[in-house]
Amino acid sequence: MKCTKCAAPAAINMRQHRLALCGDHYVEWFRAQTERAVSKHRMFSREERVLVAVSGGKDSLALWDVLLHLGYQADALYIDLGIDDGIRYSDRSLTHIHRFLAGRPEANLQVVDIEQVCGASIPDASRLTRRGRSKPCSVCGLVKRHVMNRVARDGGYDVVVTGHNLDDEAAVLFGNTLRWQLGYLSRQAPVLPASSQGLARKAKPFHRFYERETAAYALVRGIDYMYDECPYSVGATSLRHKAVLNELERQAPATKLQFYLGFLRAREEGAFEGLDAARPDLSACLECGQPTTAGQRCAFCRMWEQVNARKGRLGEPARAENSR
Ligand code: AMP
Ligand code: FES
Ligand code: ZN
Ligand code: ZN
Repeated sequence: MKCTKCAAPAAINMRQHRLALCGDHYVEWFRAQTERAVSKHRMFSREERVLVAVSGGKDSLALWDVLLHLGYQADALYIDLGIDDGIRYSDRSLTHIHRFLAGRPEANLQVVDIEQVCGASIPDASRLTRRGRSKPCSVCGLVKRHVMNRVARDGGYDVVVTGHNLDDEAAVLFGNTLRWQLGYLSRQAPVLPASSQGLARKAKPFHRFYERETAAYALVRGIDYMYDECPYSVGATSLRHKAVLNELERQAPATKLQFYLGFLRAREEGAFEGLDAARPDLSACLECGQPTTAGQRCAFCRMWEQVNARKGRLGEPARAENSR
């Protein structure tokens, strides 16, 4: 197959766009599509400071690469979750990020090590709390959201961006639709504005790219990304939903794109407006100052209090402070 633009051998064929491109034209196309998504959804401007949440995987490193290349003020944040499980998952993720940094002296990275800052790794904390009795993913999600927001606030960033791609978004949409979770549906968007109570703006510039497209960009650009999934993701509901959608896509190409874009259209036409109204007002957590619906103290602070109390009972030194 040949590149539609220059007739060189194609590096990727995108059936849903009826487009085959060589490496150079693919990089050009991919960056232009990202720029278009950023401006269409008014995610951020070149005058604003962007915090890219990087995991070491293909999506977030490709995103950081594209934003730096397009001239955005994009610094990155890596949250070291202390996931070991015999394969040093978190350390290996950081190694990939350091390799990415090696060729980019202009790039700034901030690392927040949860064990150092909060006193326990995510797997250890989740063993000591009701939230994470079966798997650490819920504790992990809570901590990641909290830390991203705090670093954005403390560092004066205008927006937090993540590498979520079309496969991720379609799977979340599928899960929310299966359970008709209208509140979640109304809040699933390429960009969420900052709230007056202190939640940072959040954006997903890659929401229209298939996973294979972000992987292709990373490969063509020579980004040495972390290939493995988190060991705790085995058996996750989101992976089951992804498998179902992959099968549908195999039988009818562009299914995922149509499913997701149809949802965005319905959203723009107001189909989900007002469904978020039942959400209680946010107020500042008395301990860390971050927005919370819980009234007095946020779920993050309550979770670490429980972890520290149980650690104390088990004879391990408890940690008084959290990630303030
Ligand atoms: P995941 O939930 O693992 O699919 O990751 C979705 C997005 O969240 C990634 O593309 C990153 O932007 C961000 N992310 C995931 N893990 C981390 C981490 N440990 N540190 C910073 N950002 C992360
Ligand atoms: Fe958080 Fe796997 S438990 S990334
Ligand atoms: Zn070409
Ligand atoms: Zn708090």
